[in-house]
Amino acid sequence: MVEIRSVGVMGAGQMGSGIAHVCALAGLDVGLYDVARDRLEACLNVVSANLSRQVASKKITEEQRREALSRIKLLTDLEGFSDTDLVIEAVTENETIKRKALSQLCPELKPEAMIGTNTSSVSITRLAASTDRPERFIGIHFMNPVPVMQLVELVRGIATEDETFEAARNFVSKLGKTVAVSEDFPAFMVNRILLPMINEAIYTLYEGVGTVDSIDTAMRLGANHPMGPLQLADFIGLDTCLSIMQVLHDGLADSKYRPCPLLVKYVEAGWLGRKTQRGFYDYRGATPVPTR
Ligand SMILES: NC(=O)c1ccc[n+]([C@@H]2O[C@H](COP(=O)([O-])OP(=O)(O)OC[C@H]3O[C@@H](n4cnc5c(N)ncnc54)[C@H](O)[C@@H]3O)[C@@H](O)[C@H]2O)c1
Repeated sequence: MVEIRSVGVMGAGQMGSGIAHVCALAGLDVGLYDVARDRLEACLNVVSANLSRQVASKKITEEQRREALSRIKLLTDLEGFSDTDLVIEAVTENETIKRKALSQLCPELKPEAMIGTNTSSVSITRLAASTDRPERFIGIHFMNPVPVMQLVELVRGIATEDETFEAARNFVSKLGKTVAVSEDFPAFMVNRILLPMINEAIYTLYEGVGTVDSIDTAMRLGANHPMGPLQLADFIGLDTCLSIMQVLHDGLADSKYRPCPLLVKYVEAGWLGRKTQRGFYDYRGATPVPTR
């Protein structure tokens, strides 16, 4: 059985920071890489702030925080992954970008290294086929925010070996998370169910049935959701939401998955939600203000 002692995280965005956080806290050595160099320091600052929050709420000790931070190394090139047991790809949710990133990654890895992808929707089998090791490739789908959310979906591609699956399962339990196994179908389980609901909320806004505020209030108080669907869309990232809907629409060829034109428009405007400070809400002031 392969034991995962070191983890590489490729893509230091929202998810990359969360994955680095939980891996370092679980005692694993972490290498963090992003094509955008400025993302690396920003990502480490996010991890540091989130660890401090956990210290303040007495979930971890100050010593655990310090140790976790010291385990994260920022990498300026892919060669830094040469001795890593498992690299988790968490780059932008776009199949072309992911395939290119994976094909650049493979030559830098030791032969026995595993690759996990954190994709929310893209076929694991297709991504695996763009690597030199489809048998050691698997979907390890963390939820956002990673330090808080309990679930990880594990998704095997057609070629994923049992040993890879078991190593991934052990890795996830070492992080203290719970596995749900999904078959390799577009958007797997959580997003197959969640994203059409969010897309429908955007249609509800688009058709003028309700405002941003009334739709989110309706679902928080009327369906007991912890946050409204439009607030959640901003949290996920509207570009990621659109990509997932496109994968569902293309992959399942059913018009019920058609991305709402209003979602497309927000993405075209570069209003991607919290990460760009504007989406269905404007986050530039002290409190979020609906943009419609
Ligand atoms: N946002 C969510 O709620 C959520 C939840 C679960 C899974 N995911 C998945 O996680 C992945 C990342 O999503 P995110 O929300 O962190 O996106 P993000 O936009 O916050 O971050 C993506 C990062 O990838 C980097 N990147 C792009 N190309 C790269 C390359 N070739 N090599 C290295 N880095 C590269 C970008 O510079 C950026 O920093 C996506 O596959 C997404 O679907 C997202």
